[in-house]
Amino acid sequence: MSKTKTICFANNKGGSGKSTTCANVAYQMSQEGKRVLLIDGDMQLNLTLSFFPEDEALGFVQSGNNLYTAIKDQKSLADFIVHTPYEGVDLIPSSTLMSSIEYELFTKWQREFILRKCLEPVKATGVYDYILIDSPPTLGGWVMNIMCASDYLVVPVEASPWGLFGLANMFDFVGQVRGIAPTLKVLGVAITKADERKNYFHQTVETLRSLEDVKLFETFIRIDSSIEWAQDNSKPVGAYKRSSRSAKEYAQLTKEIMNDVSR
Ligand SMILES: Nc1ncnc2c1ncn2[C@@H]1O[C@H](COP(=O)(O)OP(=O)(O)OP(=O)(O)O)[C@@H](O)[C@H]1O
Ligand SMILES: [Mg+2]
Repeated sequence: MSKTKTICFANNKGGSGKSTTCANVAYQMSQEGKRVLLIDGDMQLNLTLSFFPEDEALGFVQSGNNLYTAIKDQKSLADFIVHTPYEGVDLIPSSTLMSSIEYELFTKWQREFILRKCLEPVKATGVYDYILIDSPPTLGGWVMNIMCASDYLVVPVEASPWGLFGLANMFDFVGQVRGIAPTLKVLGVAITKADERKNYFHQTVETLRSLEDVKLFETFIRIDSSIEWAQDNSKPVGAYKRSSRSAKEYAQLTKEIMNDVSR
């Protein structure tokens, strides 16, 4: 078995902190001396924009050097890797054309496993300790591909009433994925955009703690404007402002994730 561990970040609720968490966990893993490959699985390009300014991100769309081309033509993802400005963090950029990926997958043989197959040559090199995949806010054939290519799933959840709505649907979907990819493990739920001044926040924590079979990570990522400033500068928050609260929280959450994966 490959020593590379693949972790996807998914939740069908939009704006739950998937891309922010994926980008910042990758950066913090690199700070621990690990080698990480990020895969931007969303047509919104948010993970790509976390490391590259808009013109460069759109350059990857125009040149065809992106995930969409690889999946559509079933090519090895090893040929689509770009280096980010951070040592140990590489990326496979997304494309706005990912909007039609479900259509592309539809006629393919064993269509749930295309991403897994395209990733095999990358894993075989043993270069990366972790592959982290960002998902779009949907549940369908493409997210099924992402989950089938992953060993672990992390679910970022925004501590809000609508943040919890739909979570049961997501776990039902994960159950279906497990039918064809039985090794997928739910690592846990990570609370993002937490605001401890709000009573509702505490109720959310209680609800998530009471979920059976699903672990809630100890570290909460609190609301922090440094995240938005970092994203505006195409940087992970730890690189933008190392002393910020969210940089420290992401460092802590990353340690929890790495610990659980190595068990
Ligand atoms: N801890 C935080 N503090 C403040 N703002 C945050 C925090 N985490 C995320 N955000 C902001 O919340 C918004 C949603 O975050 P993000 O894009 O990571 O969610 P997402 O789940 O990837 O969204 P989508 O479902 O659209 O892909 C972004 O504008 C981001 O800047
Ligand atoms: Mg996103």
